[in-house]
This record gives sequence, structure tokens and C-alpha cells, in this order.
Amino acid sequence: MSADLAGQGVVVTGGGRGIGAALARAFAAAGARVAVNDLDAGAAGAVAEECGGTALPGDAASADGLADLVGRARAALGEIDVWCANAGVAPVGGADAAATAWASAWEVNVLAHARAAELLLPRWLERGEGRFLSTVSAAGLLTMLGSAPYAVTKHGALAFAEWLSATYRHRGVRVHALCPQGVRTDMLASTGPIGEALLAPTALDPEDVAESALAAVREERFLILPHPEVAEYYRVRATDPDRWIAGMNRLQQGLERSELL
Ligand SMILES: NC(=O)c1ccc[n+]([C@@H]2O[C@H](COP(=O)([O-])OP(=O)(O)OC[C@H]3O[C@@H](n4cnc5c(N)ncnc54)[C@H](O)[C@@H]3O)[C@@H](O)[C@H]2O)c1
Repeated sequence: MSADLAGQGVVVTGGGRGIGAALARAFAAAGARVAVNDLDAGAAGAVAEECGGTALPGDAASADGLADLVGRARAALGEIDVWCANAGVAPVGGADAAATAWASAWEVNVLAHARAAELLLPRWLERGEGRFLSTVSAAGLLTMLGSAPYAVTKHGALAFAEWLSATYRHRGVRVHALCPQGVRTDMLASTGPIGEALLAPTALDPEDVAESALAAVREERFLILPHPEVAEYYRVRATDPDRWIAGMNRLQQGLERSELL
């Protein structure tokens, strides 16, 4: 398996803006041939043009949408060497979040990854190579106050990426899990005052996150932590869960006092 990205066929879902657009630009700058997917056709087209790549607008979550997308990506690129499962949604809400919010979070943040892998694996296993870059979130290692559907489904995305790597690593399938905290994108802006309080102070630019991702790809590293402090939070969660939950609860209480939650 080569981590030399020159000439590789790369698909980025949700690549019309934010982290996906930065990934598309970074892969293109590394010499890859990039296909940019997004629900927003205009945004996909603009990023594809910048990258000298192909726009593949459409839904990257439903079974039909993915079958169509993988077919068009193969027609455009030949082999799909790298699949960036990046499209995501961040609905707010707790245990009482709307059924539609839970459903769309499962569809886009988790099932889209499994469906893409189902379509890609037969060819990757035949070739003995393929790369799956999953945009998870630090919420997949920790939690996300104010959004139960996001916290739960990002844990699902990380669990799927781990499972994929554990199952197929010896057959040439490489998997990476990109787990940033706040990143300055439309998604962060859409979280309003909670995102502003929790994530904005340490937020990174999408370009920095993409740079971390490509470095990890070149180093063949599974876990990508653009915010290095997340490693320590993750360690505390694993080794002292009561201390970790108490800390998160103090944060929740602070948000309640500020009437943000
Ligand atoms: N911004 C953050 O703070 C942050 C932090 C950690 C992880 N993430 C994750 O990074 C990924 C990208 O987020 P972002 O911040 O760039 O968001 P964004 O909202 O700026 O961009 C996401 C893009 O995905 C597209 N999209 C959504 N559903 C789609 C679908 N079904 N098919 C095709 N395209 C679809 C949207 O049209 C949009 O252009 C998400 O998975 C998100 O959960 C974001």
C-alpha cells in the first residue's frame, strides 16, 4: 500500500465546503485526482474546478445515492483509491431530539460509511489496497454537550472505522479516523452560542485539519487528532470514567448557568 498520493483517485463526500473542501484541495495539491461530492451542486462544482477535479453532486448517505455516486466516481476516476467519508450533520437536541434528527444523524454520520464500504470493499480486496478516511469528530471519542444524536452517531462512526481497520488491515485496506474538536466551518457557526462557548475558542481552520489528515495518511496512522489535547481527555475517559463524566457535567452546569443549555 503506497501512501504516495500522486495520481490516486480520491472521492470526498460533503466536499463542497468546510473540512471536505479543504481535504479535496489538500489531496489535489498532493497530486491526487479528486472527485468532489456534495448535496449542494454549485459548491461541489466550485471546489472541483479549483482542484482540477470532477464534481459529483448528489446524496452520499442513502443506499441509492451511494450506489449512483460510486458508479459515477469509478467512471470519472477509474479506480477509487481513497474514499473520504466526510459528509456529516449535527442536529441539536437531547433524549427528546426529533425522530427526524436521530434518523438523519444515523443515515449521514454512520450508515453512509457502512454503505460506502460495502460498495468499495469487493474491489479493494481484489486489488489488495484501498483507503477509507472517516471524518469523525472528537465527539466520537468523548461527547458533545447539547447534541445526543451527534455524540452517539460519531461514536458509531468511530466504531465502524475501528471495525473496518481491525477486519481488513491485513488485506491492504487502510483506515483513518479524523477526530477534530471545533473547526471554523458553517457547521460550527450553525451551533450558535453553545458552539461559540464550547468549541470556538480552540477552533482550527479547515486547512489545518486537512494538513493533519494528510500527514496521518502518509504515516499510515489510524487516529488523527488535530487538537492534540484530545488524547489526554480520551485517556482520562478510558482510565477514570467517573472523573471524566464529572468534568463534563461541570461544563454542562456552566452552560446552564449561562442559559446556553
Ligand atoms: N466543524 C466542526 O467543528 C467539526 C468538528 C469535528 C468534526 N466535524 C465533522 O466534519 C465533517 C464536515 O463538517 P464541516 O464542519 O465541514 O461541515 P459543513 O456543514 O461546513 O460542510 C458539510 C458539507 O456536507 C454536505 N452534506 C451534508 N449531508 C450530505 C449528504 N447526505 N451527501 C452529500 N453531502 C452532504 C453539506 O452540503 C456541506 O456542504 C462532518 O462529518 C462533521 O461532523 C466538524
